[in-house]
Amino acid sequence: MRNALLAALLAAALPAIAADPAWVGEARNVASSVPPKLVAVLTEELKKSGPEGAIAVCSVKAPEMAKAASEATGWNIRRVSLKNRNPKAVPDAWERAALEEFDRRAAAGESPAALEKFTVVKEDGRDVYRYMKALPVQELCVSCHGPADRLSPATKAELAKRYPDDKGTGYAPGQIRGAMTIRKPV
Ligand code: HEC
Repeated sequence: MRNALLAALLAAALPAIAADPAWVGEARNVASSVPPKLVAVLTEELKKSGPEGAIAVCSVKAPEMAKAASEATGWNIRRVSLKNRNPKAVPDAWERAALEEFDRRAAAGESPAALEKFTVVKEDGRDVYRYMKALPVQELCVSCHGPADRLSPATKAELAKRYPDDKGTGYAPGQIRGAMTIRKPV
């Protein structure tokens, strides 16, 4: 009886965790930790071997970095996009709704870099904290995610070879390319 009451009280208290500054702060830190490292590697590689050469680095390094950060922090870390390049980067229902909301808020004038979304959801009977942070397109990204006239023939060929179903082009700086999406059991 006491346990049932405790469980009911805990369940009622859970939504508060979503807005708990400690959780939000940790999620924000974790989601913000990977992109600058990837940008550093990309910048270096773009200088050395151009976009067509850096594609290989991105496709190997990005998942590697996410995996290392997942192991270091205990959060499951991924990237998703409404127009995904990696066939696995498809958003689920909550992620899709968040990405659509990010696009609307950016169109309404909010700074894309500040867009985030968090919640606590029940998954297989467990409470899971979910957090997303928008990844805005910078000038650097356009050589691989820009419109057709900004992609070199070698880049187009390399992308077509590795990602035959690539939807991740056509972007301009300031648009939202996708998001970091992270989760951890509460
Ligand atoms: C050198 C080319 C290159 C550059 C520059 C680049 N990307 Fe990518 N991007 C890729 C490749 C390749 C993938 C697929 C990676 C994979 O296989 O997981 C990708 C995937 C992504 C994804 C994951 C979702 C999806 O569509 O698969 C996001 C989000 C993303 N890029 C954002 C960015 C942003 C933001 C920038 C600029 C800061 C950027 N990229 C710069 C090549 C690039």
